[in-house]
Amino acid sequence: MLQEDVFKKLVAHCKEYGFVFQSSEIYDGLSAVYDYAQNGVELKNNIKKYWWDSMILLHENIVGIDSAIFMHPTIWKASGHVDAFNDPLIDNKDSKKRYRADVLIEEQLAKYEDKIGKEIEKARKRFGETFDEKQFRKTNGRVLEYQQKWDELQARFVKALNDSNLDELKQIIIDQEIVCPVSGTRNWTDVRQFNLMFSTEMGSTADGALKIYLRPETAQGIFVNYLNVQKTGRMKIPFGIAQIGKAFRNEIVARQFIFRMREFEQMELQFFVRPGTELEWFAKWKQTRMNWHQALGFGSDNYRFHEHDKLAHYANAAVDVEFRFPFGFKEVEGIHSRTDFDLSQHQQFSGKKIQYFDPELNESYVPFVVETSIGVDRMFLQIMAASYAEEEIASEDGKKDIRVVLRIPAPLAPVKLAVLPLMKKDGLAEKTREIIDDLKFDFNCQYDEKDSIGKRYRRQDAIGTPFCVTVDHQSMEDNTVTIRYRDTMLQDRVAIGDLKNIIAGEVSMKKLFAKL
Ligand code: GAP
Repeated sequence: MLQEDVFKKLVAHCKEYGFVFQSSEIYDGLSAVYDYAQNGVELKNNIKKYWWDSMILLHENIVGIDSAIFMHPTIWKASGHVDAFNDPLIDNKDSKKRYRADVLIEEQLAKYEDKIGKEIEKARKRFGETFDEKQFRKTNGRVLEYQQKWDELQARFVKALNDSNLDELKQIIIDQEIVCPVSGTRNWTDVRQFNLMFSTEMGSTADGALKIYLRPETAQGIFVNYLNVQKTGRMKIPFGIAQIGKAFRNEIVARQFIFRMREFEQMELQFFVRPGTELEWFAKWKQTRMNWHQALGFGSDNYRFHEHDKLAHYANAAVDVEFRFPFGFKEVEGIHSRTDFDLSQHQQFSGKKIQYFDPELNESYVPFVVETSIGVDRMFLQIMAASYAEEEIASEDGKKDIRVVLRIPAPLAPVKLAVLPLMKKDGLAEKTREIIDDLKFDFNCQYDEKDSIGKRYRRQDAIGTPFCVTVDHQSMEDNTVTIRYRDTMLQDRVAIGDLKNIIAGEVSMKKLFAKL
């Protein structure tokens, strides 16, 4: 199946099975804003718990906060967001569509990569096992030609970005003959900067309303609380402050479902370190975060690091963790060595001394910061994309059938078990309720008595429920039930009294933490 089709199916599945809905759908929707539905919110909460506990429970020197979305507007002046949190935009005069100039160029680079990939695949098929990809890349004329075009374009693009040269970005688009995907023309406007922050007003106009911003990242809420947390928590460097919360960006190009949204959620850690040690900590956090991703078991081939060519104004090192989505490798998490930029800026703009007295060095300094920043929504999409599978199986009447299953890691699954009476009568429904009443304080359980047992299993597969427990007539006699495992579809007969232990062993976050 084409990856594009897989993605369309995934989006449809998210709606049909109560994971994600378009915001304001009955009013025709609001672009790039989404609501999490009954199953989606459970998965989202589990993702947040996996991240939060991996920070707070597993690290003695990390604490959490929950700062307000509204903050003093000078914070965004100090952080550089008012002046520099921009995307370069360009309009096509014929279609009136707006694009990010940098994204148009990145897509052109991806086209050259695709062409190289296709040549390699063709050759691999032709030469079979004897195929040597490295040698082919070095010698094949077409590959060398595409590689040269890629190298030249990449170098020119990085320079234009580093110089903030908007005219050069436009010139690249013209020279590369990039056309508008809607009108098919090259009738472009100049490239302009567009600030991504949403603003609103606080207080009534008569009192002189204050222009405030909806935060575009949660990080600044941590920086401005650094002194409070360090003092009240008696924190010693190195230490971290973690936060989960909403962020808002007026994205020019909002596409690919919940990948790029205007209202989204971040999980951010600011880790404060002694100046000069930041790159060591940066390397440590890079590895720690990759382990966190890979503990989910989606295959190490599906992750890669992407080193930044252009560093943000506050960073001296930066890397992204990328995941292979159906639309290609894309950023899920950013790890930045943010130097002392933010704390120094807030020190200057607020006039308050923001320093740490290091008793071992007997000196005061502005701490350096290593940040890890991951989008909850992108993590959600990663899990849905990696978990979605269509399998050919034999149906109840012996014919071939397709089973849609979400192989969500059990600790993150929205519903942990469904308890199903084989039929409603003969006391089976009451027995099922008794089991749920005993387990519901430990696990998110679902009761379902409608349709054949096969159909009920399928409904649970489609939302990723790892266990289905079926109560039948034998259960009434010997207090045993069948337990069906989502991934293998195998069934065991077990004592009702053993259910708690069997399930707890599989759905506990400890299973994931043990791999970190
Ligand atoms: N404090 C640093 C920071 O905000 P970022 O790379 O701009 O860095 C961090 O964002 C993460 O937030 C990204 O890796 C991504 O997962 C998520 N993110 C950023 N913009 C987003 C958007 N428009 N929609 C969904 N997630 C987004």
